[in-house]
Amino acid sequence: MAGDQGQGRGVSGDDVPLVLVAAVARNGVIGSNGGLPWRLSSDMKHYKARTWGKPMVMGRKTFDSIGRALPGRETIVVTRDPAFVSPGVFVAHDVDAGLALAAERARTMGVDEIIVAGGGEIYAQTIARANRLSITEVALDAEGEARFPPIDPKQWREVRREAGERGPRDDADFAFVEYERRSDMAQSIIATWRPPRRESEAGNEPHPRRRNRGMRGRPAKARDRSG
Ligand SMILES: NC(=O)c1ccc[n+]([C@@H]2O[C@H](COP(=O)([O-])OP(=O)(O)OC[C@H]3O[C@@H](n4cnc5c(N)ncnc54)[C@H](OP(=O)(O)O)[C@@H]3O)[C@@H](O)[C@H]2O)c1
Repeated sequence: MAGDQGQGRGVSGDDVPLVLVAAVARNGVIGSNGGLPWRLSSDMKHYKARTWGKPMVMGRKTFDSIGRALPGRETIVVTRDPAFVSPGVFVAHDVDAGLALAAERARTMGVDEIIVAGGGEIYAQTIARANRLSITEVALDAEGEARFPPIDPKQWREVRREAGERGPRDDADFAFVEYERRSDMAQSIIATWRPPRRESEAGNEPHPRRRNRGMRGRPAKARDRSG
């Protein structure tokens, strides 16, 4: 069951889009024994580019697995531990506070997205509010206890897919796939749709069928390409 994947209302009702970035095995596994179940050097480069310059919210276990604040991004660690501190990171004690802080940081930094960087617990608590999913599909079945929530096709539409080029330091084939929430797509179509103009509303513009006429009402000569 994909469960309730929400409305994608973003962060605490404000308007900074939320994107979940994850590498996911065919069987949904994302992590094993506190680490990644594969070596995928190409995805590390993709991850860096996809998250660069943006605030990232992550669970304390994911932060431990990375071991430090990643350069070029702002890290917000979610933990229930009131004593948690680590150099160069912001700390939040629940998911809502983490997302609200990320939205504030995004506005200060002038960026247009908040990243949720895992792991399984945090993805499960944020997918209902996400606007986009940025998924590296890893073409293997992995052993592991951390999982990405099932992606419900009724809620999510695949909008981009790029096959990865497997390199010597990649354990599997992979593809970079972007999803958009279907209700967000409907909103953006409504926002850009304009009713067709009727002739009576066209003011003084010439009638479309008369636009090509010359000075004396004759159709203007069509120019050839040498003209
Ligand atoms: N493949 C990928 O793209 C990817 C990405 C990220 C992570 N991972 C993997 O995923 C695994 C980690 O995932 P995980 O699910 O075990 O852990 P996680 O989501 O990274 O972190 C869980 C921790 O976050 C804190 N937390 C969770 N919900 C909270 C809440 N509502 N309020 C306050 N704190 C909260 C708790 O920290 P405290 O215990 O400190 O209170 C909890 O133990 C690792 O194996 C990692 O390598 C994979």
